[in-house]
Order: sequence, then structure tokens, then C-alpha cells
Amino acid sequence: MKKLIVATSNSGKLREMEEYLAGLDCLLELKPKELEIEETGDSFMANACLKASQVARLLGEWAIADDSGLAVDALDGAPGIYSARYGSTDGERIARLLRELGDREDRRGRFICAVAIAQPDGSIAYSSEGICEGEILPHPLGKGGFGYDPIFYVPQEQQTFAQMSPSVKRRLSHRGRAFEALLPQIN
Ligand code: IMP
Repeated sequence: MKKLIVATSNSGKLREMEEYLAGLDCLLELKPKELEIEETGDSFMANACLKASQVARLLGEWAIADDSGLAVDALDGAPGIYSARYGSTDGERIARLLRELGDREDRRGRFICAVAIAQPDGSIAYSSEGICEGEILPHPLGKGGFGYDPIFYVPQEQQTFAQMSPSVKRRLSHRGRAFEALLPQIN
């Protein structure tokens, strides 16, 4: 069984990744907390590759990283790659996004996720991207999930990410779609 280091400190993401990768013959291990990689890339894919590559090289192990975020049309794609840095707590990030969006009619947005797996020498072996289209609600709805989930409404399911069962979110979320495209490459 191969060891695969998960290059994230976000426990919500780790939980979801464990489920996506359950069928793989590998042992997932969270990266050491003190190993912080600065996200200096200008796209989700650049940041996912940067994190996977640096963690793999520094630890001499295979590593997987994802970079994801929410892009809102009426805010010219913000918060985008800065989604995590939009505030210091989930509550603050949601409040800022709702404040900046105000009562604008166009509330379309999408979650984007890039995933990359690096070999122990830091080279990228596999990568993929997934997108989930939705709308930003004026008020949070639902108690599940993490991050911006309570304000991200998916018309197709008539639910926010925070109202969905984990299996429904897994199937249609940006991360689910990115892993769906990644797994056949590995297998
Ligand atoms: P990063 O990928 O660790 O840079 O973080 C991306 C940001 O987008 C964080 O603030 C997350 O909370 C948020 N985010 C990423 N994926 C999701 C999701 O599935 N639901 C809600 N928020 C998410």
C-alpha cells in the first residue's frame, strides 16, 4: 500500500478527499501542520500543483493537493483564488461576500476545484479540474458542509451545499467532479 500525503490543513477537505479516494490502495496521511506552502500561483491549478509538488519534494513522498474556491460573476470572479483569504473565519468570509454582492440581481457563481498528485521528486503525475455552477443566496441556509456551503445554492437540486447529504454533494460538487476526472487516470 502506497502512502499519499494530503497537502491541506483543512479538515473538511480531508474528510471529503478520504471518501473520494476510498477505492485506491493507498494510505492517506495529513501533511505536518508546520509545513505551510504559500499559495503564490495565479490559478487554482497552479496552486494545486505548487502545494502537491513542494510537499512531495520536502517529505520525499507522493502527495495530493487541491485548490478550490468560489468565483462570483457580478464580482468579476472574486473571491476566486483568494476565497480562503477573504476573511479569517467561515462566518466572516460569508458576511463579506454577501456585503459585496449586496442586492444585485445577477447572483450566478461557480465553485472550481483543481487537484494534483505529485511524485516524491516533485513532478506532477496526475491533475484534473471540476466545476459546479450555482447561485449565491442572500442568507445562509443549511447546517452541513463547510466554508461557503450555506450560501451556495444548486438550482438542479433546489438545495444549498449545506443542505445536501454528503453523498449528493460528493456526486455533483466541483471537488467530486475533479476527482471523477482524476481517478481513471490513476487506475
Ligand atoms: P483553499 O483551496 O484551501 O485555498 O480554500 C478555498 C476556500 O474556498 C476556503 O475558504 C474554503 O472554505 C472554500 N471552499 C473550497 N471548497 C469548498 C466547498 O466545497 N464548500 C464551501 N467552501 C469551499
